[in-house]
Amino acid sequence: MDPITYAQAHREQFLAELLEFLRIPSVSTQAEHKPDIEQAASWLREQLLRAGFPKAEVMPTPGHPVVYAEWLAAGPDAPTLLIYGHYDVQPPEPLELWHTPPFEPTIIGDDVFARGAADDKGQAYIHVKAAESFKETVGAPPVNLKCIFEGEEESGSPSLVPFIKGHRDLLAADYAVISDTHILGKETPSIVYALRGLAYIEVKVTGPSIDLHSGVYGGAVNNPINELCRMIAKLQDDDGHITIPGFYDQVRPLDEAERAELARIPFDLEAWKEEAGVKQAWGEADYTIIERTSARPTLDVNGIWGGYIQPGAKTVLPSEAHAKISMRLVPDQMPEEITELVSDYLREIAPPSVSIEIQPLHGGHGAIIDRNSPAMRAAAQAYEQVFGKPPVFVREGGSIPVVADFQQILGIETVLMGFGLPDDRLHSPNEKFHLPNFYRGIETVIHFLTIMGQK
Ligand code: BES
Ligand code: ZN
Repeated sequence: MDPITYAQAHREQFLAELLEFLRIPSVSTQAEHKPDIEQAASWLREQLLRAGFPKAEVMPTPGHPVVYAEWLAAGPDAPTLLIYGHYDVQPPEPLELWHTPPFEPTIIGDDVFARGAADDKGQAYIHVKAAESFKETVGAPPVNLKCIFEGEEESGSPSLVPFIKGHRDLLAADYAVISDTHILGKETPSIVYALRGLAYIEVKVTGPSIDLHSGVYGGAVNNPINELCRMIAKLQDDDGHITIPGFYDQVRPLDEAERAELARIPFDLEAWKEEAGVKQAWGEADYTIIERTSARPTLDVNGIWGGYIQPGAKTVLPSEAHAKISMRLVPDQMPEEITELVSDYLREIAPPSVSIEIQPLHGGHGAIIDRNSPAMRAAAQAYEQVFGKPPVFVREGGSIPVVADFQQILGIETVLMGFGLPDDRLHSPNEKFHLPNFYRGIETVIHFLTIMGQK
């Protein structure tokens, strides 16, 4: 039997295992889930061993462990691929919006609904099953494989860069491969060649030392919530252009050739509005929606709080106001520089009637990947073999900072072989993974490894 036939014949088993993986509530940001994180790591290690990896280990870090595995059966002349994925998931909250419980994976039609189904358990597991398909048919994969699965991706990967820096030899490879993105549609394969970066800050504005009566003091004491809103309003104009001085200095402009290519990507405005649940698109007038969401930087308030929010009215002039603000960055904007720029600007515009504290949260670099590398071409060929048409090349608006880290620390390019769909509701209630993409993903990776092995 060949690996593809094996994979097709074992779909039921692969699915049953995926459901087991999805039942483990490995939420990395919530301390009470620490045992679940550990369980997910050891479960994954077990599966890697069963799939044929002679070596698979749960390696501790100062945070959640890394699962590392290797299978170097193809010899020193064959390429070595470093597969990266993450076994942690986003918090499932708000729970009341889920139609089925987030950690009781439920199959409805062709989709499996669960937190982490697409991001990233279902996609990471594709690689384990591709490897098994080689083991059970031809004995071993045609290339050398190394796997690094982390448990902190959804909390900013604090331990990952130190881990990579501390294990350069262990992780040495010719290319990295990551399945943590989506294709354009069920029948429209695509490959991501650029990702946005991220800078994230938390801001606290303090006014009076205690909450005050708004009738007694209102009018003569600056309200920190009002002030925070005024300050935030100064960060961006009505069209989403960011007004922080110097913000665009490093932005790599889009050239006409790339714009023309991006304009050829199929895009259905009505379907997009429906998916986003909005009645109208918004943003920088000089850029298309595809450009705005993937090749332009942005600034968003992710959360804002303070004052009285319980039922009824309380006439209070609050002492504090808080906001979490994130910026999606494009190459070559540096997260550290942007964090400093926005922090300096906020401090500059904060009036003397309030005080301001800014705490940088995690960030990450964006990346642009060479589209003409042998591995990119092999991936494109593999998609075409399975989906029946060549993939479209697209830029992704989300962030996978490890891609730039692999470039900078290990000197390798990544191939982003995603198999999610745009409506998978990553980070939202009712996240799902389209099962035909799970199976096609496994077959695409089998073809990819086969082509890479022939080089
Ligand atoms: N899988 C996503 C990245 C992604 C998002 C790919 C949307 C395709 C579409 C990844 O797990 C993620 O959520 N990344 C974070 C990165 C952050 C925590 C540094 C993101 O983009 O917010
Ligand atoms: Zn992810």
